[in-house]
Amino acid sequence: MQAKNALAAATMLSSSQANETALRTYDLTKHYGSRVAVDHLNLEVRRGEIVGFLGPNGAGKTTSIRMLLSLIAPTSGRIELFGRDLASERAHLLPRIGALVETPALYLHMTGQGNLRAVGAVLGGVSRQRIETVLSQIGLQARQKDRVRTYSLGMKQRLGVGIALLNNPDLLILDEPANGLDPAGIVEMRDLMHQLANEGKTVFLSSHLLGEMQQICSRVIFINAGKLIADKTVAELTRGQGEYAVQLEHAQDALVLLQQQPWGKRARLDSNGTLLTPAPQESGRDLYAFLAQAGFPPDSLVPATQDLEEVFFSLINAHKGDK
Ligand SMILES: Nc1ncnc2c1ncn2[C@@H]1O[C@H](COP(=O)(O)OP(=O)(O)OP(=O)(O)O)[C@@H](O)[C@H]1O
Ligand SMILES: [Mg+2]
Repeated sequence: MQAKNALAAATMLSSSQANETALRTYDLTKHYGSRVAVDHLNLEVRRGEIVGFLGPNGAGKTTSIRMLLSLIAPTSGRIELFGRDLASERAHLLPRIGALVETPALYLHMTGQGNLRAVGAVLGGVSRQRIETVLSQIGLQARQKDRVRTYSLGMKQRLGVGIALLNNPDLLILDEPANGLDPAGIVEMRDLMHQLANEGKTVFLSSHLLGEMQQICSRVIFINAGKLIADKTVAELTRGQGEYAVQLEHAQDALVLLQQQPWGKRARLDSNGTLLTPAPQESGRDLYAFLAQAGFPPDSLVPATQDLEEVFFSLINAHKGDK
């Protein structure tokens, strides 16, 4: 009985740890003179999540990340890391974070291994073995003895992530880690992020590459003009909200008919001439029957999915008046 209770307690403990918050901000705000760069931002990232931080140029991503890393002070608001107040426990909390902000500062005349050793020496307590492990994680083992000057942009970015990983941080905060990478470099970066998540690390990364974020992240947070405009799982965002994509002849006539139905007011045509529409009782079968009976038998009818890019622009448009 006692053993059973202990097991139950252990299970509860591990599930509460799984829900533990790695990062949280409370009304985080930054003003530059009269410009509001970050505006009462409330973010939450739980342990083990890979969260994408998305927004157009000037949205406030880098400014937020700089505050999370204590590189600049907030104008107002508060940051908690692992449930502790960052402002009062900086020295204890910052060593648990690995970061890459914009382009990594690298010694170009030194080798990849030399760069990691140099940063390791400054951090202290970074063993040669740890450097080897990181080099293999970032896929630079074969090139570790080459000068960084001879590296491709993707290799330099990966070395930057390697530097962020040196102290084996619990939380990685990466500003545009895939910046400037070609498709192969992006795939490598994606694999690296998944590998880190499998090791139980928490990753908070900003990007413009929406399609990429869709594949890397479990959740995405959108900001615009310093404000949070959406915080959703990728599945939630890309689910077609119960709509169907229908291809059929005479789509324009079918559209008029659908819009007259109480359930079909949101029906519309996309730029490819595909009809996007809700369905009666949210049933694709009922929609098919309705259209067929009305003389518009569909050539195809599938649940609609939204592209993250589409979602992004529709969110931004919906918040245009916020500035
Ligand atoms: N040091 C600074 N002094 C004055 N204004 C600044 C400073 N840093 C950033 N800003 C302003 O704050 C706003 C947010 O900038 P920030 O760099 O955080 O955006 P971002 O989302 O990272 O954009 P990008 O996608 O281009 O990297 C912008 O209007 C920018 O001009
Ligand atoms: Mg930026």
